[in-house]
Amino acid sequence: MNMAIILAAGQGTRMKSRKPKVLHSVCGKPMLKHVIDTVKKAGLDSCVVVVGHGGDEVKEAISEPGTVFVTQEQQLGTGHAVMMAESLLPPEGTVAVLCGDTPLIREETLRAFFRFHEQNANCVSVMSAVVDQPYGYGRMIKSADGNLTGIVEEKDASEEEKAIREINGGIYCFEAGALSGYLSRLTAQNAQGEYYLTDIIGMAAAEGKKMGSFTVKDQEEIMGVNNRVQLARAEAVMRKRIGEEWMLRGVTLIDPANVYIEADVEIGMDTVIYPGVILTGKTRIGEGCLVGHNSRIQDSRIDDFVTIQSSTIIESTVGEKTSVGPYAYLRPGSRLGKEVKIGDFVEVKNASIGDGSKASHLSYVGDADVGEHVNIGCGVVFVNYDGIRKFRTTVEDHAFIGSNSNLVAPVVVESYGYVAAGTTVTMRVPGGALAVGRAKERLIAGWGERKMKKKENES
Ligand code: UD1
Ligand code: CA
Repeated sequence: MNMAIILAAGQGTRMKSRKPKVLHSVCGKPMLKHVIDTVKKAGLDSCVVVVGHGGDEVKEAISEPGTVFVTQEQQLGTGHAVMMAESLLPPEGTVAVLCGDTPLIREETLRAFFRFHEQNANCVSVMSAVVDQPYGYGRMIKSADGNLTGIVEEKDASEEEKAIREINGGIYCFEAGALSGYLSRLTAQNAQGEYYLTDIIGMAAAEGKKMGSFTVKDQEEIMGVNNRVQLARAEAVMRKRIGEEWMLRGVTLIDPANVYIEADVEIGMDTVIYPGVILTGKTRIGEGCLVGHNSRIQDSRIDDFVTIQSSTIIESTVGEKTSVGPYAYLRPGSRLGKEVKIGDFVEVKNASIGDGSKASHLSYVGDADVGEHVNIGCGVVFVNYDGIRKFRTTVEDHAFIGSNSNLVAPVVVESYGYVAAGTTVTMRVPGGALAVGRAKERLIAGWGERKMKKKENES
């Protein structure tokens, strides 16, 4: 049996935040969730997360099947953190240990690392990187013949050791059977008075145990996030990766550096995305769509061949070949059918709009069920609120709602019903009927001419 332990109890003081560090998001997903997801994708389905600071908040935010939380009341070091999971350790197999603040580790890298550990039948394997700025990291100490003999923390390192540029990435594999024994022998006799997990390396080396270091090529992968500058750096790396992944899968990003696609978004082939687009949450976009500049789409499903221009779409669905915008606002619960047109300055909320229907300009469609092939003229308002309660409006297939009309809910316009421009509808409009409700128009001959002439004479 294989298991992963993810250390996430530290305070994260340098984030200067009320939120636990591991809950800060990178591309829309908490750092800890990135690590858990990657660990699972790499084939480890049993995952123990050690929480401490803000533990309840972390547990609530990251509820994952197959993930067990253990609490480290006092943060006495990384070795102490692993001790908290001791009762859950499998009797044999591999135990991987990772940190919750290294969200950039890749699935392929983890898989290769696990393979390295198992193929070499190591007792301990350590992921390392050679970096330009080793400051702050534990240094990999090796013998003349290249064997790993220990890890020395920055604060305990001699000048000579500080010059070593191969650093400990904080990701390890241990032979499960040996780990408990080493944990029980850890002491806190070091510069920080902590139980260092890394001391196990020295112990195992002294016993002549088989160990190995696995050096990652891309040092970004083990970058730890300790402050908001590093958080932004991690975000940039992740954003670039996500953008490249979608481009390689057939999505055109006109300007990849200016598109924000969160980690769980999905996009179909031949979709073209313009600058300033923000795609978040569980958004799914189909094939052959066009997402124009400055559009924001959150937790929505967009089917194939949809055009979206400079619009905001939240928790909604948009059917095939529909066009939205420019400057449309689809609020939660909007469900658009196929070949619908939602034009400029149209707001839709908690409403379904059937296939082929149009609201081309300046309308509010709230709390409504609109059928197919309905025409909603310019400036139509679905009056859904009486100051106390909200009501729904139904507009059946092929109805025509003239410009500048109000449909005062609850009300129904039956199929082929016709509402004359400027009408305030408060009664059910029967199928095929016309509803007209406006002040009667009068014509006064010569009135306009007289007024304008008078104005000219005065000036
Ligand atoms: C650790 C390693 C260092 C390595 C670096 C890589 C040790 C002693 N040092 O140093 O060799 O180069 O990571 O990033 O292991 N944590 C707990 N409980 C604790 C202490 C820490 O859960 O009591 C968690 C933290 O939340 C964090 C992780 O362990 O996710 C690493 O702790 P941190 O204090 O950041 O270790 P570093 O000093 O960075
Ligand atoms: Ca760290």
